[in-house]
Amino acid sequence: MKYFLDSAKIDDIKYALNNWKIDGVTSNPKHIKNSGKPFFTVIKEFAEDFKNIEFPISVEIDPHLEEAEDMIKMATEIARLSKNFVIKIPCTEQGLIATKSLVEEGINVNVTLVFTASQALQVGRIGAKYCSPFIGWQESSGVNCFSLIGDIKIIYHNYNYDTEIIVAAVRTGKQIVDAAVIGADIVTAGIQVYRDSFYHPFTDRGIKNIPRCLG
Ligand code: E4P
Repeated sequence: MKYFLDSAKIDDIKYALNNWKIDGVTSNPKHIKNSGKPFFTVIKEFAEDFKNIEFPISVEIDPHLEEAEDMIKMATEIARLSKNFVIKIPCTEQGLIATKSLVEEGINVNVTLVFTASQALQVGRIGAKYCSPFIGWQESSGVNCFSLIGDIKIIYHNYNYDTEIIVAAVRTGKQIVDAAVIGADIVTAGIQVYRDSFYHPFTDRGIKNIPRCLG
């Protein structure tokens, strides 16, 4: 399963790329705003710093754009900056119309804010590169998303859709494992979620309980 970092912090992205072998990045306007730099400054840094590797970086259009035509305009402007850029578009009807048109133009799209298999089905039908079902929000309110991801996987398999599933808004190591057990293509999570998933206190206790080899 591929690991994407959900972040717009260049230092964190470089750290995770060099040390953990992450496979890509998902950013969103909130992450970019938190960086304290203007939107286009940050994404131009993305374009420049990773220009020599194949490294998909999702960059979201302004999610408050309501018309497909405006979404397409902004998406095209962003896509022009880097071959690594994947345009993130919310899963509204207008967003799906924009996605269909961008896919036809050869632009990779990550359809985001997906909460049902019926939304994901249309994302696959129109050939988006990625579909991002959000699980953390629903699981916080007691919904188990295991079957949602499983259903999307079955649907894409049934119809041979190439769209890859990015399990998004991941909060815990358990959710990463759930995604892997179902066979999702990708998870995207923040740096601390991955760090926590690498950790177990018994590993530390086991180290303390055994003698040093050297001296
Ligand atoms: C994924 O692509 C999103 O950027 C991300 O998971 C958003 O969710 P969050 O802000 O609730 O983590």
